[in-house]
Amino acid sequence: MNRAPIAYELIETPPRDALARPLHDLRISVIDRCNFRCPYCMPEDQYKHDHVFLAKDQRLRFEEIARITRAFVSLGVRKLRLTGGEPLLRRDLPGLVQLLAQIPQVDDLALTTNGVLLPRLAQPLRDAGLQRLTISLDTLDPATFRQLSGGRGEVADVLTGIAAAEQAGFAQIKLNCVVMRGINDAQIFGLLERFRGTGHSVRFIEYMDVGTINGWRGECVVSSAELIARIHECWPLLPVQRSYRGEVATRYAFADGAGEVGFISSVSQPFCGDCTRARLSADGKLYTCLFAQTGFDLRTALRAGAGDEELAALIAQRWRQREDRYSERRAELRTVGSAEKVEMYAIGG
Ligand code: GTP
Ligand code: 5AD
Ligand code: SF4
Ligand code: SF4
Repeated sequence: MNRAPIAYELIETPPRDALARPLHDLRISVIDRCNFRCPYCMPEDQYKHDHVFLAKDQRLRFEEIARITRAFVSLGVRKLRLTGGEPLLRRDLPGLVQLLAQIPQVDDLALTTNGVLLPRLAQPLRDAGLQRLTISLDTLDPATFRQLSGGRGEVADVLTGIAAAEQAGFAQIKLNCVVMRGINDAQIFGLLERFRGTGHSVRFIEYMDVGTINGWRGECVVSSAELIARIHECWPLLPVQRSYRGEVATRYAFADGAGEVGFISSVSQPFCGDCTRARLSADGKLYTCLFAQTGFDLRTALRAGAGDEELAALIAQRWRQREDRYSERRAELRTVGSAEKVEMYAIGG
């Protein structure tokens, strides 16, 4: 392979991108398949005829993921999150968790799932060293849930999954709800009622224009400000200080002490200024933004025998060039035309 020589001694740790944002988090997609077809992510009718998922040999093996992760950690990454598609569809996922949990210096090892496979996997994942869980749950209404999972999921199964996670020792679970106007926005109170006082927290996510196939329209977005006002009328809310720089959710506490609720406002209040997140796709591409058009191939270098230092240098080099701030430039970029963006199921949330 023809690569420019790399000056290892010059690697700054953590590397800073073109906007001075340090590299701090790595979100690792382990599979591009999913057992749901959420219309905001993987709408059934948009891709099914000619879509080709990654073949097994195109996906990074667990040892390869661990090697790339170690390179990221050597550059200052301290937070890891496993995503998909649906990550629990990846065979023997606890084996990967075990490898990642052994990497010194990792402070946080979390996973985002739709929850239906947790009854089988929550305990093995916990035993392997997974620290935190985020479970997607858009509504408690069975019919709306069916609609929002593309006809493939039952809300009762997710609730069983949550119970299994609790049983396995996961506490303070985050429940992610993508809010779409006219579809599930009237049902947010049901979710809050169910989880207030449990120690878990519901987080409402503004519907985003990730990828190119979800048919996003601004009118479907319900702003966090609107939701906060609606919830505050019913249960008074108090703002909570963010717990770290770059935290994605803005948090509020219920004034009556029944816990917290979070809001992820990528559309109405973009948070690119503090974005320290890198994403690794299941086929080993590094994406420097959720809305990126292309990824930077790490698998080829890895399989061609690149050493740990070389991998780290490649990552650092790419990170230093990073200028992404899609959410801050959404309006302007959307008028330029519909560029092909990576799909959410290929890169995780
Ligand atoms: P913790 O605060 O560490 O628990 O995690 P998190 O909130 O970063 O993780 P989670 O995967 O639960 O993120 C919630 C959702 O926020 C994702 O599914 C995305 O929809 C959105 N999100 C996360 N990171 C970004 C980001 O960098 N940019 C944008 N636009 N949205 C993001
Ligand atoms: N807008 C906002 N959030 C989304 N997610 C998937 N697609 C979108 C979208 N278009 C979130 C899901 C899940 C995570 C994997 O990504 O809610 O929690
Ligand atoms: Fe699957 Fe999650 Fe995408 Fe829904 S949002 S289709 S559960 S990857
Ligand atoms: Fe980061 Fe891109 Fe999201 Fe902005 S839009 S917060 S740069 S991932």
